[in-house]
Amino acid sequence: MSITILAIESSCDETSASICIDGKIVSNFIANQTIHEQYGGVVPELASRAHMQNIVPVVDAALSSANCHLSTVDAIAFTQAPGLIGSLLVGTQFAKSLSLALNKPLIAVHHMQAHVLANLIDENNKPDFPFLCLTVSGGHTQIVLANSPLDLKVIGETIDDAAGEAFDKTAKLLGLPYPGGPLIDKYAQQGDAHKFKFAEPQIAELNFSFSGLKTSVLYFLQKQDSSFIKNNLNDLCASIQHTIISILFKKLQKAITQTGINNVCIAGGVSANSRLRKTFLEKANELGWKTFIPKFEYCTDNAAMIAITAYYKYLANDFVELDISPTARAEW
Ligand code: KG4
Ligand code: ZN
Repeated sequence: MSITILAIESSCDETSASICIDGKIVSNFIANQTIHEQYGGVVPELASRAHMQNIVPVVDAALSSANCHLSTVDAIAFTQAPGLIGSLLVGTQFAKSLSLALNKPLIAVHHMQAHVLANLIDENNKPDFPFLCLTVSGGHTQIVLANSPLDLKVIGETIDDAAGEAFDKTAKLLGLPYPGGPLIDKYAQQGDAHKFKFAEPQIAELNFSFSGLKTSVLYFLQKQDSSFIKNNLNDLCASIQHTIISILFKKLQKAITQTGINNVCIAGGVSANSRLRKTFLEKANELGWKTFIPKFEYCTDNAAMIAITAYYKYLANDFVELDISPTARAEW
């Protein structure tokens, strides 16, 4: 019997829907919200309103491009946590209503677990278990040990800002619009990564810290003249990016040594960073890691990762009742 899942993602500022049939992603539609750019960050109220407007057309597009009708859907999945509560509420309520109307089971998905399992989407290039995953997004930075699709353990994480926040906040100091991560990536390609040196924090175990980097970039810029940023933008971007990537890979390398696991994945929005991807592959060559990176559209927020996670939950009969609520924060 075939299993068709409709999944909805609405945790932050992307409204997305995906259809997964028997573990294969058949469609994945994403509506990006550009309204936040002018405010220098995601405005929660505006995000919720945009989700309200986008959710019906996005779900319709996912269904029709998969040649699928609601009547053939076997389960409805949604992102239950973590995220912006108003954003999560829109997707949750929509999924609950569909589940009630269609009398089909409901599957609650943890957004961060889904980022990890995005690595299982490509059937021809997916890691064997156990594997390690460095998840780097706008809200989280984690090293996850995956023993099976539903047995995931966080073994290291940031104690303050996430890697994506480090990109976005330092970009803001450079006068770049939100989200600054992709722009730092772009300018860094023409820059010298060793031109400016920013201190790396010494944090215990497999944990990370990025708030000090933002402060040291701020203090450094305060000492320069008014045209400094304009004249050194590429080198500043390359040096900041180099520091973030160096912090990330030192801990990832430590995790690999500690666990002896060298099946290694990266996930989350920051894994779209071109230098990070390149460094990952260079390290793999140098140190014998077996590496996996999701396709670009499965790195940033998307419903396909929710759908693949829901597929494994469906196989495990892991359903939730209609009284479920979203939560902004969530333990694993
Ligand atoms: O996973 P994601 O789409 O959303 C969250 O769950 O947070 O990650 C968004 C983050 C933002 O901080 C954005 O600046 C960063 O990913 N990002 C990048 C790149 N593309 C997206 N950071 C650096 N380089 C990129 N190319
Ligand atoms: Zn995310």
